[in-house]
Amino acid sequence: MKEKIQELLKEIADFQSSKADELEQFRIRFLGKKGVMTALFEDFKNIANEEKKEVGQELNRLKKEVQQKFKEQQQKLSSTDNSEKKKIDLSLPVDENIGARHPISIVKNKIIEIFSRIGYTVAEGPEIEDDWHNFTALNFPPEHPARDMQDTFFIDKNPDIALRTHTSSVQIREMENNAPPIRKIFPGRVFRNEAISARSHCIFHQVEGLYIDKNVSFADLKQSLLFFAREMFDADTQIRLRPSYFPFTEPSAEMDISCNICKGKGCNICKYTGWVEILGCGMVDPNVLDNCGIDSNIYSGFAFGLGIERMALVKYQIKDIRLYFENDVRFLKQFEDIL
Ligand code: PHE
Repeated sequence: MKEKIQELLKEIADFQSSKADELEQFRIRFLGKKGVMTALFEDFKNIANEEKKEVGQELNRLKKEVQQKFKEQQQKLSSTDNSEKKKIDLSLPVDENIGARHPISIVKNKIIEIFSRIGYTVAEGPEIEDDWHNFTALNFPPEHPARDMQDTFFIDKNPDIALRTHTSSVQIREMENNAPPIRKIFPGRVFRNEAISARSHCIFHQVEGLYIDKNVSFADLKQSLLFFAREMFDADTQIRLRPSYFPFTEPSAEMDISCNICKGKGCNICKYTGWVEILGCGMVDPNVLDNCGIDSNIYSGFAFGLGIERMALVKYQIKDIRLYFENDVRFLKQFEDIL
């Protein structure tokens, strides 16, 4: 019996398998119910008592070796299986479950593309801002009630650090770090402490625009925004500028576009007025230019800020702002054909 065990130990040590069925044969031969190990343990009952200790130890060693070998070979096989899977055949047809761009990305890319045609480049700023860039440099004095229009999430107090409430903070960063002329747009995520409903959310996206140069006038602002509205919506879109208030622009306006859904007849989206509000804008307040080290006696400029969710809502007639964040594939699949 001892020789038999020695022979088997050698056989096991030499065993290598590259195929799953070979390994299965090995398992059946050694570890199966009617296999070698069962037979050896049967024989073990009949050997002389004085040999039992030594042979028993050998037999246990054999069992361990078999089990170890089996495990080791099994692992080897499954790892080669995986590497086989990693070899992707690029000539095969594409999986049908291909993703779609999110409507926010579609609209954002379209806005960037339109403004790039009239010389705007893209810049970004941080989502976590200090009080200076989000409020004070934008002409919101401390304790001014205008701050209440944009209640935010504070991360730290004294000094105040908060999630930015608008992308206007990037205007400040750009003007502090670049000399005019500046012609840029700043897309990004913004945050406000608002109750979540079909019409408002605590997270949304804006695109800010800033143009600073010598002799920039309100006429330039109006013409740029008219060009944008007609490229974004229809070629016959009309715009309307209503006087408004923002601490960082003077004069300030809110811009409406003629409702491209009902063409002015009146519908849910325009609330039966024929107009839809899409952005805030104005001439950059001289105080803001001076706060950023730009001489307001030499330079002037305009800024505007639009909400991407709102723009997509009008473009695709989306009824509920919450849909943008729920990531329900039934919603997202509707945008599959738009690039
Ligand atoms: N930051 C303003 C808002 O979020 C929009 C705006 C931007 C207004 C630039 C004027 C100029 O409401």
